[in-house]
Amino acid sequence: MSQRTCLSVILAAGEGTRMKSATPKVLHAIAGLPMVAHVVKAAEAAGATGVALVIGHGADEMRKAVQKFAPKAETFVQEKRLGTGHAVLAAREAISKGYDDILVMFGDTPLIDAQALSAARQKLAEGAAVAVIGFRPPSPIGYGRLIEKDGHLIAIREEKDCSEEEKKIGFCNAGMMAVAAKHALRLLDKVGNKNAKGEFYLTDIVEIAGAEGLDVVATEASFESALGINNRAELAEAEAIWQGRRRREAMLSGVTLIAPETVYFSHDTEIGTDTIVEPNVWFGPGVKIASGAKIHAFSHIEGATIGSNCEVGPFARLRPGADLRNKAKVGNFCEVKQATIEEGAKVNHLTYIGDARVGAAANIGAGAITCNYDGYSKFFTDIGEGAFVGSNSSLVAPVSIGKGGYIASGSVITESVPDDALAFGRARQKTIPGKGKELRERFASAAAAKKKAAAE
Ligand code: UD1
Ligand code: MG
Repeated sequence: MSQRTCLSVILAAGEGTRMKSATPKVLHAIAGLPMVAHVVKAAEAAGATGVALVIGHGADEMRKAVQKFAPKAETFVQEKRLGTGHAVLAAREAISKGYDDILVMFGDTPLIDAQALSAARQKLAEGAAVAVIGFRPPSPIGYGRLIEKDGHLIAIREEKDCSEEEKKIGFCNAGMMAVAAKHALRLLDKVGNKNAKGEFYLTDIVEIAGAEGLDVVATEASFESALGINNRAELAEAEAIWQGRRRREAMLSGVTLIAPETVYFSHDTEIGTDTIVEPNVWFGPGVKIASGAKIHAFSHIEGATIGSNCEVGPFARLRPGADLRNKAKVGNFCEVKQATIEEGAKVNHLTYIGDARVGAAANIGAGAITCNYDGYSKFFTDIGEGAFVGSNSSLVAPVSIGKGGYIASGSVITESVPDDALAFGRARQKTIPGKGKELRERFASAAAAKKKAAAE
């Protein structure tokens, strides 16, 4: 089969009114990635080298989005929504390019797995003209029923066109199918619209192919992988299934999740072995974690690279561009953005590090902050290797602290500090013996006088 070429035609012209959204349905995300992008990924994983997306509603927005997640995909506009068969024909130009297999898929079925698609393609390799992906939903109502005879698929009957007997069939059309490209256009061009909905049904090619004496079969996919999304409740259901699959995959690949159901992955999260993720951790897009890291509870991480044996959190926020090198530590209530925390450096408590480098083994005290923004532009803070930044210091960027530099607590540092220097950026402390007691007595008698005056 590996030699056979494949084009995936993904139907996504529908409006998706039940989403009640200004955004086209198939651009709603699962694990941070538009659902139609999941479909493209599955098609590619099943060997599709060409992708043709049939769009209609929100075409401009769709084209822009597709450019991002599938730059090589071609888009075709279906001007009028006349049915799934009509929609596939919108991609006629791509279909006639000489592929071996055509995989027809729906843009709103994001959990479809490559295995189900490959199984259908395998049937084509074995000589079938059409291989339809079927599934057994808890209730078949609303789906096209697969009518089989002697191991062959003879028809797909839409709910509205079914007889009472046919309605009892539990094996349903998931909507996706593999079609031998050499037959595809001929079969599709024969599809008419004489049915209950007056639409051109893609599913009619089953009977048309049968009448031509071609072999048509059905394969079976899991209910989950055929789940179609029509509203936001189903979107959340699909998200939950996706997360469940991903958590399991993470654990089986050597990551410890103490409470897996509370950890949320992004479509592209990468985590190395022996990393421990505590409960309630959120991974946004673009996170890469090497092995042996500890991600403590309630951390929010996106666009960050975390080296081996790092510790993050609890309650840490790593934003895009956070780059933690091996054994670095970012502790509770710390935020790191666009900054490198070099090997073994510690940013442990209540700190903001943005647009900065924290040198190897440097220590950033509690409450220290890089003041990187003046309301208009961002500036860089460079903190040298082994530097010590005392608690509650403000480093006003652009500024640099040299290697081994030492910043006194509570400093406001506006000028760069050379290697190994000690910098104070605060008023000198003045201590007056006995003055505390005197002050207390003065305040107490003033308060008593006020109370007495009020009582009189
Ligand atoms: C379709 C199948 C049905 C199957 C079900 C699975 C047909 C005729 N019926 O029915 O057998 O059980 O899916 O969910 O294929 N679309 C277009 N242009 C159109 C029409 C549809 O792009 O003119 C797209 C939609 O955006 C959607 C997909 O095709 O992504 C399926 O269309 P939909 O109207 O939902 O088909 P169903 O009636 O659910
Ligand atoms: Mg549907």
